Order: sequence, then C-alpha cells, then structure tokens
Amino acid sequence: MLETVIAGVRFKNPVIAASGTFGYGREYAELVDVSALGGICSKGLTLRPRAGNSGTRLYETPSGLLNSIGLENPGIPAFIEKELPSMKQLGTVVIANLSGSDIDEYIEGAKLLDAADVDMVELNISCPNVREGGMAFGLEPETAASVCRAVRRVLHKPLVVKLSPNAPSITAVARACVDHGADALSLVNTFKAMAIDVETRLPVFDNAIAGLSGPAIRPIALRMVWELAETASVPIIGMGGIACAEDALQFLMAGADAVQVGTNTFVHPRSITDVIDGVAAYMKKHSVKSVGELKIRRRARGEGHS
Ligand SMILES: Cc1cc2nc3c(=O)[nH]c(=O)nc-3n(C[C@H](O)[C@H](O)[C@H](O)COP(=O)(O)O)c2cc1C
Repeated sequence: MLETVIAGVRFKNPVIAASGTFGYGREYAELVDVSALGGICSKGLTLRPRAGNSGTRLYETPSGLLNSIGLENPGIPAFIEKELPSMKQLGTVVIANLSGSDIDEYIEGAKLLDAADVDMVELNISCPNVREGGMAFGLEPETAASVCRAVRRVLHKPLVVKLSPNAPSITAVARACVDHGADALSLVNTFKAMAIDVETRLPVFDNAIAGLSGPAIRPIALRMVWELAETASVPIIGMGGIACAEDALQFLMAGADAVQVGTNTFVHPRSITDVIDGVAAYMKKHSVKSVGELKIRRRARGEGHS
C-alpha cells in the first residue's frame, strides 16, 4: 500500500530523511527505527572535503530554522569508504546528495558515486550557503541545464534534481532539468533569509544570508509542489516544514510521489516514523490503496467549463 517507485527505485514507503538533517543515518539509529524509513538522503557531498562555514550556523526563528552550515562533509571518497558501508546496512534506500563548486567538481563527484553502491543521486543545485556553485546553478534554466547535462553524461544511476525556491521561475528551471536528464525532481531547498543581532549590530551569520526551513516555509513549498506537479513529466519529491502525517498528506495530495522530512527531526527525532504510521493509518481509514491515489485529480475541477 505505501510503496512508491521513483525513477525505477522502489521505496517501501514515501517518507525520506532530508539531506543535511539526518547525518548518514547511523547517527539516529539509537533514537529511531531507521530501517522503517523509505530512504535516507546523505548530507550534501562534494568531491573534496569541506570544513563548512565559520561563525553561527543555526538560529531559530518563529516556526522555522535558519542554517548556514556551508556543506561541511568529508568529501566523496571518504563518504564512500567510511559512511556508505554502514548506510547500506540500514535497510533503506540510500540517496547521495551531490554538490560542487564548479561543473568539473560535480562531474568528478558524479563519476565516483556512479561507481559506488548508492541507489540514486540527488543533485543539489540549490544550497544557499556556499559562495561558489550550489544555488548559483539552480537559479536560471541555462545554468541548471548545463550542470544536469554534464552530470547525466557520466551518471547511469537515477538522477533526482533538487530545486531552489529562490529561482525567479522554479517551473522554468524544472523544465530545463528534465530536458537535460533529470529522472525526478525534489523541492524545496531552503529559502534565502537572514537575522541581525541588534547588540552587535551585525548579521548573525558570517555570510549574512542563510537558509530558512521548517513549518514557516510549508505553505509556500506546498504551493510550489502543486504548481510543478501540474506540468512535470517526472516524479516529484516534496518537502518543506513537514512535521506530521497531515503535512505529508498535503504534499502527496498536491502531486508529490514521496516526501522528505528535515528540520522537524531536530525537534522530534521520531516524527519521521510517526509520519509514516500516520500516512498508513489515513490510507487505511479512507480505503486508499496506493500513494498515487492520494493525488488530487485536477482536470476534474475544471470540468463543466467550456
Ligand atoms: C541544518 C540543515 C542542513 C541542510 N543541509 C542540506 C544539504 O547538505 N543538502 C541539501 O540539499 N539540503 C540541505 N538542507 C535542506 C533540507 O534538506 C530541506 O530541503 C529543507 O530544510 C526543507 O525541508 P524541512 O523544512 O523539512 O527542513 C539542509 C537543511 C538544514 C536545516
């Protein structure tokens, strides 16, 4: 009943841990039955190790979280050697979140992940917290197309492209990604945002701008999934502030084939498995036989109009 297939990859349920909020899975193993998850997205990975950003990295706002981690990660070779073997033991789909400072770094990283035992790659062209690369590739259709095309040439595994809500037209970027090799789309990454410390009269973050996530962004993220689902020809993974089963159901009804849970895991580590149980209970109660059946059929709404 809960199974969902995205780009040929079978997920036991449509609930995935979002990149950067669940480590490599083992960090949560004592708190959560990690094997119950549909999948786990790794922290954003780059070819070379990154130390991440200096200064404050997390700052709470009403119903939200600002972060400026800056893609701290051990580098793809160390991920493959040290983290991937234990991640594969967790009994769930393993997704590697790939980032880079320039196209060559994306290409070399993709080659290594292609040869490794990951189930799929989520191409991150939407991180707002790095000075080079990251979100810069995901704001315009032309740059998004160039990185998708380059990665697609060397990657034979299923490719999900993670979109930025900061793009002037997320729909145009999505179309360019699909035209240049994306098998699926995930959205949204964080929204550009900031905070100022009134005592120091300085921005809280060294980069001034950080990324906003959590329930504060959920209605906007939902609207973006809804709009994209209307025209997208590939599966969609929706996320942004999902904290309970009802939130996840809204994304699945808006047209997502799966969802990711991120920030809420910091507040309630078990909320991700509660979401899975709650979606299952809803489907049982309402005799819904498949995840796809949850999607709102929009054409019917226009019927009757000439
Ligand atoms: C602390 C933190 C670190 C994150 N790191 C990454 C990352 O490395 N790669 C990525 O694609 N998204 C990253 N994200 C974005 C999340 O995966 C997700 O897209 C976003 O937070 C919206 O979902 P949420 O509101 O459920 O957290 C990060 C988010 C947070 C809060």
